[in-house]
Amino acid sequence: MKIFPKTFIFGAATSAYQIEGAAASDGRGKTAWDLHNKDENGTPFGDTGDVACDHYHLYKEDVALMKSMGLQSYRFSVSWTRIYPNGFGEINPKGVEFYQSLINELIASGIEPAITIWHGDLPLALDQMRGWLNRETITHYLHYAKTLFDLFGKQVKLWFTHNEPWCAAFLNSQPIHEQLQIAHHLLVAHAKAVSLYKNHPNGHGKIGIVLNLGKQYPNTYDVKDYEAARNIDGFINRWFLDPTLKGIYPADMVSLYQKHEIYFKVESGDMELIQENKMDFLGINMYSRGIQAYNEEGLFHARGVHNPNALYTSMDWEVCPKSLYDLLIDIKYNYDNIEVIIAENGSAFEDTVKENQIHDQDRVNYLKSHLEALHQAIDEGCNVTRYYAWSLFDNFEWGLGFSKRFGLIRVDYDTLKRTIKDSGLAYQKIIQDRGLEDAV
Ligand code: BGC
Repeated sequence: MKIFPKTFIFGAATSAYQIEGAAASDGRGKTAWDLHNKDENGTPFGDTGDVACDHYHLYKEDVALMKSMGLQSYRFSVSWTRIYPNGFGEINPKGVEFYQSLINELIASGIEPAITIWHGDLPLALDQMRGWLNRETITHYLHYAKTLFDLFGKQVKLWFTHNEPWCAAFLNSQPIHEQLQIAHHLLVAHAKAVSLYKNHPNGHGKIGIVLNLGKQYPNTYDVKDYEAARNIDGFINRWFLDPTLKGIYPADMVSLYQKHEIYFKVESGDMELIQENKMDFLGINMYSRGIQAYNEEGLFHARGVHNPNALYTSMDWEVCPKSLYDLLIDIKYNYDNIEVIIAENGSAFEDTVKENQIHDQDRVNYLKSHLEALHQAIDEGCNVTRYYAWSLFDNFEWGLGFSKRFGLIRVDYDTLKRTIKDSGLAYQKIIQDRGLEDAV
């Protein structure tokens, strides 16, 4: 058996907009995502998060399922607009009540709650004021974060500031200097939230960020392919790793941007603030890796390459567990063996539904092979303390709606019925055994 350390925590993760539904209930304000796939009258013409898994109403049943799977911790995000419908201003007591009940239910079931403060669902009111491009959003975010620490900080001891700031900054059609500005504001907001938490009377737990990281490999031994891989690594991984863990932006990327006259505004004191407010742990969302080949065109001189010999998930992401091991070894050596929490890891595949059983062997294999890679990294001294599977349920996969299923639990979107899949049962056994059988 490959046994995980006694203190290692197994959990699963979700995010508010992807599962809660009840989009117009109990005073919740709109997020930018509430307009997705709807016409100007608000009539949907595709998948929306209006109902999603209806976790808002079914949370007790959902916590019971988590308990039956043996989850030790549950990572979820708070919907900013349930607490502050307009992003700031009047607090919404009904929203507070929902998260309070959820937290109580988790604790009563022996499951440790872990909160992501912001997971992609920006209040519409702030979005209409240019979102994170507007430095004022940092102030509103901190006010919201402080409210969460005040309300829930006595019971919740694990906090994630932002989920995937790279996606928030770069997955849009804005020019790159604006994207870098958004990234900078997110980093400043993160550092200020860390400081706020550390100085808060309820701040006795741990706080960190969640970065989407994927190891980047050169396509061949050609030095030009190495350059391409290094640039994409700088663009996606190091642009957030270096500031949050070393307090600086990576010099090679700064000079690449300067060479192309791409600038963003860093106010005086920002870098000191980022430098001084280091987080307690690094949260990593890891799904796949990248293979890069040199490309004459483009800022990063890189072109992603498919691996003809690999299995790809229905997201078209290569399954490569070894890249998780490689990534963790890199973090160990380059970032002082900071405590790492795997905040998300999982796969989208089609399920086979047969007589109330859900067969998802590809997902079972993905789960086990990634846990095996993680086990090896821990064995070699990587400081990884937790694993949160993505996702507890099938849910609203952003722009792809309900077409991609990541869940350990299947959700029938017509009836909202939940069924634990083979992967959920496999995870239950792993948690029970606290490890994996040798042959996976
Ligand atoms: C996000 C999730 C998303 C998942 C799969 C991560 O990028 O945090 O919200 O559903 O990956 O795409």
